[in-house]
Amino acid sequence: PRVAVLISGRGSNMMSLIEAAAAPDFPAEIAVVISNRPDAHGLARAQAANIPTRIIDHKAFADRAGFDAALDAALAEEQVDLVCLAGFMRLLTAGFTQKWSGRMINIHPALLPSFKGLHTHERALAEGVKIHGCTVHFVTAEMDVGPIIMQAAVPVLEADTPDTLGARVLEQEHVIYPAALRLVSDGRARLAGNRVAVDEFET
Ligand code: GRF
Repeated sequence: PRVAVLISGRGSNMMSLIEAAAAPDFPAEIAVVISNRPDAHGLARAQAANIPTRIIDHKAFADRAGFDAALDAALAEEQVDLVCLAGFMRLLTAGFTQKWSGRMINIHPALLPSFKGLHTHERALAEGVKIHGCTVHFVTAEMDVGPIIMQAAVPVLEADTPDTLGARVLEQEHVIYPAALRLVSDGRARLAGNRVAVDEFET
């Protein structure tokens, strides 16, 4: 499948997908990187990796529906089959998420369903949890709620700050996002109602 990676910022998860997809046996191709922010640092990193980029500046649209329509048109033009949200900081309309249901995934820096939304590492520390992590899930209309494809856990250490904990989680994000994209791309992980069906690995 042809994959679009949607970003708003530094693009480290985007790079982990681009690097994984460069392997000859990877079942997907990163066809385009799209940013809603013209100044996203990830755009230069994608260009340096020879991936086509597009900017769809949300400020140019009166409402979310207008932005989502432009996004959908760009995805059609690029003949995109799968969408990966990677630090993409815009809420998508229910209509858009419905259209891309089962074909759009997101990475969230917490073990869902705990700590939906922003500032997950601060909140994990404030709650005193001992295990934290990250989640790749199918995107549904409700933010950070969709069926879970893959998770990784990390320990929370006594001396952690949001930055040290976030760095430990980010390292795992870069492992599970390419792994989850591989599963979805070759059809081994599929949205099945409100769950994800995953085929057993053949050994
Ligand atoms: C990551 O922590 C991701 O989980 C969250 O936003 C951050 C984006 O970082 N959704 P990057 O742009 O991929 O470096």
